[in-house]
Amino acid sequence: MGAYLTSLGMEFRHWIAVEISACLPIPGRLHPSHYSLLYYTKGKAKTFRRIRTPIQTCRHCGGEVKDYGGHRDAMNPKGVNLKDVWSDIPPVRHWKFKSRDRRANALSTKILDRVVEMSTCPGELVLDPFGGSGTTYAVCEQKSRRWLGMEIDFAAEIVERLEGGGILNHKNDDYVEG
Ligand SMILES: C[S@@+](CC[C@H](N)C(=O)[O-])C[C@H]1O[C@@H](n2cnc3c(N)ncnc32)[C@H](O)[C@@H]1O
Repeated sequence: MGAYLTSLGMEFRHWIAVEISACLPIPGRLHPSHYSLLYYTKGKAKTFRRIRTPIQTCRHCGGEVKDYGGHRDAMNPKGVNLKDVWSDIPPVRHWKFKSRDRRANALSTKILDRVVEMSTCPGELVLDPFGGSGTTYAVCEQKSRRWLGMEIDFAAEIVERLEGGGILNHKNDDYVEG
């Protein structure tokens, strides 16, 4: 895959690990706990916006959970620079997004929200050639991005989602600069 993308003139920029909590163990292997987003660009990225994620707090007491090696006071109050390990994304297959009638599980909108904000400005065009449940398109609609999509299998769920039946938002508190 990497060699193929390179042959198309794409440049590798980032390997992003998205942590997942619910994954079945595989005998004789390490327990899988992430999946990967491979970030390629054709030449220099046209748009790459700095994202800051909120200072992490305890969901029970509200207190901050890290002291950042004693450098907390020197940190930007808008948040921490986005890292290449994302552990703040809701589970992909949370029961709330499963339904006997649905053939595709809805991805967390937070992933696409972050990807779209990082790599495009309002008005720019996003192509997702693997429509699935249409998460990318739903996020683009909400964030004023133009989009192009295709799906080889079923489109009814995408239409339903875009018509307002199933856009489930996961709150995203990222701070976007620029
Ligand atoms: C994991 S889903 C993608 C999730 C999606 N990007 C979203 O925002 O929800 C992958 C989808 O790609 C579709 N697919 C696979 N091969 C395809 C092809 N050659 N052309 C169009 N769609 C394809 C599959 O049917 C499947 O629904």
